[in-house]
Amino acid sequence: MTKISWKPATMVYPAPPALISSGTIENPNVMTAAWTGIINSEPAMTYVSIRPSRLSHDIISKTKEFVINLPTLHMVTAVDFCGVKSGRDLNKFKETGLTPIASFNVKAPQILQCPVSVECKVVDIKKLGSHDMFVAEIVSVDVDDAFIDDNGKFWLEKTGLLAYAHGHYYTLGRNLGSFGFSVNKKRLALMQKMEKVDVMVKERKAVVLERHAEAEAAPAFEKSKFARSHTNNSAARRPAKKFDGKSKFHKHFESADSAHAENFYKPKKHSFKKKA
Ligand SMILES: Cc1cc2nc3c(=O)[nH]c(=O)nc-3n(C[C@H](O)[C@H](O)[C@H](O)COP(=O)(O)O)c2cc1C
Repeated sequence: MTKISWKPATMVYPAPPALISSGTIENPNVMTAAWTGIINSEPAMTYVSIRPSRLSHDIISKTKEFVINLPTLHMVTAVDFCGVKSGRDLNKFKETGLTPIASFNVKAPQILQCPVSVECKVVDIKKLGSHDMFVAEIVSVDVDDAFIDDNGKFWLEKTGLLAYAHGHYYTLGRNLGSFGFSVNKKRLALMQKMEKVDVMVKERKAVVLERHAEAEAAPAFEKSKFARSHTNNSAARRPAKKFDGKSKFHKHFESADSAHAENFYKPKKHSFKKKA
């Protein structure tokens, strides 16, 4: 393996394409931000880095509050839209149909459709260059109770979260193991077994694709039995007959308004014999 060293860039992915809501319930705004994440566990702290040119920057600088909403795959178009249009020009909630609802601990609204909304209060603003980093304390985590089971477990993986990497949106893939599985013998064995099956399936698929490619590339393929069985044999063998409007099928429709046609479509009447 050879590695190439590139100039410094923002290549730490995947990132969440989070929806940052701000303002008030009466006058809300929302923008997409990938430069967000956790920076401390206790107290739970986060950040969002925003260019000074954004409307969201103006609002959050004044109110010192925002909400990080995690979008799901159904919302990807809205997510992109909120990342290319400014609240200076239009109401993104109205345009996208996303619903602003009141938060529990901050005046900034949150987004109804997002299964997770993280309410934040700004404690510091760091000027970093292109972006200002709003360092914030997490004051509440609000989750959609539709994803909480009877035992109180929150099934985040069932919500269909989005990821953002190098200019593209993705859904999250398979669950590859839970926290700490690498040092738990039982769980590690199970995951390795699953990985083996996965590799096997991929290899089989690759072999089938290779065979198809070989068959397609072979010059005799077009004339072979195999090729005919793939195309519709009757259509492939017979020269195409132009539809002249005189087929049996066509006539049938021509007589559709005749008494005969009416009778043809009438359901038969059943006569029930009474039991003696
Ligand atoms: C996927 C994605 C990620 C983005 N991440 C950021 C970000 O982290 N910080 C930022 O300032 N702008 C980011 N943007 C751009 C803003 O969302 C965009 O400029 C938006 O129009 C600002 O809205 P506003 O003017 O209503 O605040 C991102 C855009 C997209 C599509």
